[in-house]
Amino acid sequence: MGILNKHAKLEKNVTLLAICAFFVVTIGGLVQIVPLFYLENTIEDVEGMRPYTPLELAGREIYLREGCYVCHSQMIRPMRDEVERYGHYSLAAESQYDHPFQWGSKRTGPDLARVGGRYSDEWHVDHLRDPQSVVPESVMPKYGFLEDTRIEGEHIEDLMATNRLVGVPYTDEMLENARADFRAQVDPFGDIDGLYERYGEESVNVSNFDGQPEITEADALIAYLQMLGTLVDFSTFTPDASR
Ligand code: HEC
Repeated sequence: MGILNKHAKLEKNVTLLAICAFFVVTIGGLVQIVPLFYLENTIEDVEGMRPYTPLELAGREIYLREGCYVCHSQMIRPMRDEVERYGHYSLAAESQYDHPFQWGSKRTGPDLARVGGRYSDEWHVDHLRDPQSVVPESVMPKYGFLEDTRIEGEHIEDLMATNRLVGVPYTDEMLENARADFRAQVDPFGDIDGLYERYGEESVNVSNFDGQPEITEADALIAYLQMLGTLVDFSTFTPDASR
C-alpha cells in the first residue's frame, strides 16, 4: 500500500504532478529520439531504387499541383487486407527520393503506391479524361485538360538541381541531359540509349504515353503513375532483419 499512498500525494498536488510528468515525458522523449542521431542511416538501402527520370519528376509535380494526394495515399500498410489488395507493404526506401513524400492521409480513391503497370497507358488516358467512362461510379474529377497542355521541360534541370540539394543523387550528367532525357522518354523510336544508361534499362518505361505527337502534361503524369511501386523487385527482396 505504501507506493499507492505516495501516489495519492501526487494526485492531489498539481504542481508536483506537473513537475513529475515533465520529467517522465522528457526521459521518454530522449530515449526515443537520441538513438536516431547515432544511427548512420534510418532507411535501409534497397536494390532497384533510382531517382525519378526528368519526365516522371515533371509528372510528379503535376500530381502535387492537382492535389491527387487529397484523395489518394501512397503508403501500403503491413496489414493483411492492404497487402492482399495493393501488394507488398511500402518500404521507407521507396519514398526516399520523394520531396515531399506522398504517403497521404485520405483514401477517397485507392492507394496508388503500386499502381505502376496495373493498367495500360490507354486506360490511364481514358481514365484521366473521364473517370466515369471506365469506372461508372467513380467520384474522381476529370483531368482532360492535361492532354491538351503541352510541356517542354524548360525548368526540369532546375527542379532536378533543387532535388539534388535536398539529397537526391542526380549526377552532373543527369542534369546536363535533363531535357534530352525528358524528350527521349516519350519517343520509343528516338535516341533512348543515354536515358537507359543513366536511369537503368529495366526500370524506365519509354512510351508515347498519351498517343499524341506532342509532349503533354498527361504524358508526364502517366509516366509517373506507371513507375509507381515498380522499382523494387519483391520476388528477390528480403528485409534486413539486423536493423
Ligand atoms: C475527389 C477525389 C479524387 C481526386 C482528387 C483524384 N482521384 Fe483518382 N480516384 C478517385 C476514386 C474514387 C477512384 C476509384 C474509382 C476510379 O477508378 O475512378 C480513383 C482512381 C484512380 C486511379 C485508379 C487506381 C486503381 O488502382 O484502380 C488512378 C490511377 C487515379 N485515381 C489517379 C489520380 C490522379 C493522378 C489524380 C490527380 C490528377 C487523381 N486520381 C485525383 C478519387 C480521386
